[in-house]
Amino acid sequence: MGKLIGFLLLISSLFIVVAADWSILNRRKKNTNGVVGDGLKKYCESWRINVEVNNIRGFDVVPQECVEHIKKYMTSSQYKADSERALEEVTLYLSSSCCCTLEGDGKDAWIFDVDDTLLSTIPYFKKHGFGGEKLNATSLETWMKESKAPALEHTLELFHDIKDRGFKIFLISSRRETLRSPSVDNLIKVGYHGWTNLVLRGLEDEFMEVQKYKSEARHRLVDEGYRIWGIIGDQWSSFEGLPIAKRTFKLPNSMYYV
Ligand SMILES: *[C@@H]1O[C@H](CO)[C@@H](O)[C@H](O)[C@H]1NC(C)=O
Repeated sequence: MGKLIGFLLLISSLFIVVAADWSILNRRKKNTNGVVGDGLKKYCESWRINVEVNNIRGFDVVPQECVEHIKKYMTSSQYKADSERALEEVTLYLSSSCCCTLEGDGKDAWIFDVDDTLLSTIPYFKKHGFGGEKLNATSLETWMKESKAPALEHTLELFHDIKDRGFKIFLISSRRETLRSPSVDNLIKVGYHGWTNLVLRGLEDEFMEVQKYKSEARHRLVDEGYRIWGIIGDQWSSFEGLPIAKRTFKLPNSMYYV
């Protein structure tokens, strides 16, 4: 009898251990996958923030489980508010003593990116999974050739403000040279004009990393005697490398990384 009870106890404790193990494993699994409900939202927002501060680099696609979150963000009033805040900081800088003793010699320069800085690609990405699909350059360029990208309204205002303060404006874009004419049409159509140069990627630049291509473009400006007071862009590759600008301002964009 005693043996039997002992045996039953052994069996039931084994069962409890197995059952407990099973539920721990189960819970662990849920935690590492990140991700149901509120957990998913937190996970995806952390992903987004870490893209913005350049901890997460070189991603090809937005993680599938976060596509919905990124879509919500990029079409939200929060995205607008974040962009506006970044641009307000530009205005503060422009009126501060750190900036900019313009010498009136025509050599004070300001740099802008084009896509998702001056023009929005959101209408394109609305139809292409908000970064959840691998970037298809052919279809993106077909869309760019239609010159239908809307302006980012607050950047448009600031663009003219900066120009009116006497800066020479340079647009340095990773768009290819073959897109020059539709790009110029698009920019002018939505209200941008009066820039000094639009720098696009020539054949010889196409196989160069974007960051290297952009820093070489800045190098040419500095060689020509320009002082680069600021850069506004949505990609870290627009700021990195030498020569640096006095200040850089990052606009949000978690749909793609170039
Ligand atoms: C990219 O887009 C083009 C034109 O829209 C299409 O013909 C092609 O199949 C796409 N490529 C891939 C890899 O999806």
